[in-house]
Amino acid sequence: MATWDLSQTKHHVLFCNGSSCNKWGAEDVTQAFRHEISKRNLDDLIHTTRTRCNGRCDDRCVAVVYPSGNWYKGLVSEDASTFVNSLVLNRDLTGKVSHTYTGDGFTREEGISKGISKDLEKVKKVSKQY
Ligand code: FES
Repeated sequence: MATWDLSQTKHHVLFCNGSSCNKWGAEDVTQAFRHEISKRNLDDLIHTTRTRCNGRCDDRCVAVVYPSGNWYKGLVSEDASTFVNSLVLNRDLTGKVSHTYTGDGFTREEGISKGISKDLEKVKKVSKQY
């Protein structure tokens, strides 16, 4: 267990380690990115967390960054250096962004599958249970 000081953190990267992403090397991706962050002494600036499935398995390996709100797809270990560069420079990682937060929802990049629509009635029923 750890309780990190996040007062200097500018980017929080959530690496999907769900089963689909893991089959495509998510653990290696996570470790490569963490190694790159540490190598550059950016641990205070960039915080990482492993998650379970983020619900975009077709996009594996997936990562979500906030506060930018960008979702990334198709990440591989070799992206670590350019991905970290993009965070430091506050730029998007070219060709790897799947969704961008606009302040009023997410926009899907061209060529990214829409995915399965959620059954809103089912979601409402489930929501009432909580
Ligand atoms: S396992 Fe990563 S999005 Fe589903």
